[in-house]
Amino acid sequence: MEKLVVKGKKKLSGVIKISGSKNATLPILAASILNNKKIEINRVPIVKDVITMVELLKHIGSNIKLNIKKKKILINNQNKKIKTIAPYKLLKTMRAGVIVLGPLLSKFKKAKVSLPGGCAIGLRPVDIHLYVLKKLGAKIKIKNGYIIAEAKKGLVGRKIRLPSISVGATENGLIAASYAKGITHLSNCACEPEIKDLIDFLKKMGIKIKWIGKRKIKINGNQNLKSVTHDVMFDRIEAGTFIIAGALSGKKVKVTGIETKILKKEISILKKMGVKLKINSNYIIVKNSNKIKPISISTEPYPGFPTDLQAQIMVLMTKANGISKIKENIFEKRFMHVPELNRMGAKIKIFGGSSFIYGPQQLNGAEVMATDLRASVSLVLAALAANDKTIINRVYHLDRGYEKLEKKLTKCNADIFRTH
Ligand code: UD1
Repeated sequence: MEKLVVKGKKKLSGVIKISGSKNATLPILAASILNNKKIEINRVPIVKDVITMVELLKHIGSNIKLNIKKKKILINNQNKKIKTIAPYKLLKTMRAGVIVLGPLLSKFKKAKVSLPGGCAIGLRPVDIHLYVLKKLGAKIKIKNGYIIAEAKKGLVGRKIRLPSISVGATENGLIAASYAKGITHLSNCACEPEIKDLIDFLKKMGIKIKWIGKRKIKINGNQNLKSVTHDVMFDRIEAGTFIIAGALSGKKVKVTGIETKILKKEISILKKMGVKLKINSNYIIVKNSNKIKPISISTEPYPGFPTDLQAQIMVLMTKANGISKIKENIFEKRFMHVPELNRMGAKIKIFGGSSFIYGPQQLNGAEVMATDLRASVSLVLAALAANDKTIINRVYHLDRGYEKLEKKLTKCNADIFRTH
C-alpha cells in the first residue's frame, strides 16, 4: 500500500495552480445522462472519484472519453443504448455515484442504483434524495442493497421543500426536475458554488433554471436539449487547503486560478486568525504568518465555513496562541483526524460535536493513518509544519480528491514523496 513520506519544516515558496472542482465535475457528469447531443467538459480534475464516475458512465453504456493530458471529457450518446443499473462495485468507494439516480429515472423512467457504501465521517443516508424523487412522482423501494425506482409516466414537476439542506439531494432533484414535465420549485436547497456550476451547465443544455430566493430554485423541465461546452469551476476546497498550507509553513505562496469572491468566509476567518493575505480577484498570496490568533468557528452549509476544510484549519489552530474551538454541524463523525494529530503532538479534545484545540503546540513527525479524504490532507499539512519525518499511510484517500498534490507541493520546496 502506498505511503507519503514528508520531511517537515521546509518553508514553502512558489505558485500553486488550483485544479477544477471534483465536487462540481461529479454532478455535471451525472447530468450528461440527460443529453444525447455532444458534450465537452474542460478543466476536469484527474482524481480517483472523477475516474470512478467516468467508469460508471461507461458501464451504463455512455460513449464517454477522458483525455487525461488535456483534462477534457467528451461525451456523445447519440444512438447509444443506456442501461439503467448502477452496480455496487462502482458505488462502494464513491457515495456521490448516487447522483445518477435522478437523471436515469427522469430520462428512462426507471433506475436501479446501489445504495452507496459506508463512510468514515458519518451515517450519510440518502433519504432526502429519495424524498425529492418521490415528490416528483417516482415509486421507490429498497431491495437487496439497491434503490429500485420507477416513474411509468415520467417525472412531473411540482413544489418541493427539502426537509433539510443537502448538497447531493439538491443536485439529484435539480437534474431530475430538468427533464421532468412542467415546472418544479425546489426550496430549502443547498446553494454551494458547485450547485451554481451545475445550474450553469444545465442552462447551457437548454433548461430554464432561476434562483427565486436564497435557497429556492425554479426549474422549467425540457426534453429537447442542446450540445454543450463547459469549463468546470475551480476547486475551492483545494484552494483553501493550499492557502492554509501557506499560512502554516509558507514564506510566500501564491494560489492562482481561483475566484476569491467564492472564498469570502474562509478569507474572513483566516484574516481574523492573523494570517497575512494579499487578495486579488483571481489569486491570493499568503505570507509567513507567525502570530496566529485562536478563534471559534462552526461548519455550515455554504456560505458558511465548509466542513471539507475543517480538518485543515484545525492544524492551523494548533499554532494559535490560545484555545480555538470548532463545532462540526454537518457530519457527526468528522473528527477522525484528531487522534492522529494528537499523536503528532497536538493537544485537541473532543466534547460532543465540538473540538477544542489548545495552542500553540509544536508538531512532531510520526507514523499516522489517513481515514478519509480531508483528514488525510490535514495530516499532510501537519507533517509539513512538523519537526522530523512523518509517514502517512493509506494515501489512496487523498487520491480521491487531490490532483498531483505531491507535485504541487514539491514545486514549492516541500520535501514530500510517495513510496510503497
Ligand atoms: C457533499 C460533498 C462533500 C461535502 C458535503 C457537505 C460532493 C460530492 N460531496 O456531500 O464533499 O462534505 O456535501 O458540504 O459534493 N443527509 C441526510 N440525508 C440525505 C442526504 C444527506 O441525512 O439524503 C445528511 C448527511 O448525512 C449530512 C448532511 O445531510 O449530515 C449534509 O450532507 P450533504 O450535503 O448531502 O453532503 P453530500 O452531498 O453527501
